[in-house]
Amino acid sequence: MIDEPVTDPSDARATPGAYVIAIDGPAGSGKSTVARTVAARLELAYLDTGAMYRGVAFAALRRGIDPADQEPVARLAARVELSVEEGVVTVDGVDASIEVRGPEVTRAVSSVAANPDVRSELVARQRRWVAERGGGVVEGRDIGTVVFPLARLKVFLTASHEARSDRRAKEVTDLSYDTVAADIARRDHADSTRVSDPLQAAADAVVIDTTGLAIDEVVAAVLGHLDGLSPPGSAP
Ligand code: CDP
Repeated sequence: MIDEPVTDPSDARATPGAYVIAIDGPAGSGKSTVARTVAARLELAYLDTGAMYRGVAFAALRRGIDPADQEPVARLAARVELSVEEGVVTVDGVDASIEVRGPEVTRAVSSVAANPDVRSELVARQRRWVAERGGGVVEGRDIGTVVFPLARLKVFLTASHEARSDRRAKEVTDLSYDTVAADIARRDHADSTRVSDPLQAAADAVVIDTTGLAIDEVVAAVLGHLDGLSPPGSAP
């Protein structure tokens, strides 16, 4: 049987030659900083998929939709205008960069992310984003397992709960350490136990424990794993 060529850019198999570096891991593992730095070093585009889930949660809250109410949130995800570029998150034309990081959205995002229709919509958008650019560094929870199973390199960052809570507490100065640590534990649990695309390392991911490591050391480790793999722009 001859396989039909896959032409739908939202299908993972449509971009087998795309140069994707997948960086997954739980909150506070250093994903964003590492992904942004690796992208800059390699002159690749960078996509923060967590900001997309946060954008949908923000849109739901703004319209008074209960984030756990599956159907209306799924309908909203299908039509919301989302852009995540250079750290600026725009939701239906509104700059929501600050609000998407706030406590209200952080509380709401796990139930939005557990909604399978929201996931399939955002996964399709993520694949189109890569298809348009020919590759990129993509950060999230399910990038190596579900979104880009053919990624050139898959990295899964971990760190102890204390190290992750410490890092996040330094970023969000208006919340106590205990509040931040409890939020991280709650999201770890929700993200790892949900039925749709739970947080887990791909079987072929490089796992890096970032506890006690500086960002530069993690970036060097990631780039070290790329040595020996073909560079951007070459055939897969
Ligand atoms: O930055 P932080 O690790 O706090 O979270 P994030 O990357 O902004 O992601 C926020 C939430 O979105 C996570 O807790 C997950 O529930 C969800 N998420 C997901 O389910 N799949 C992704 N690819 C990215 C984020």
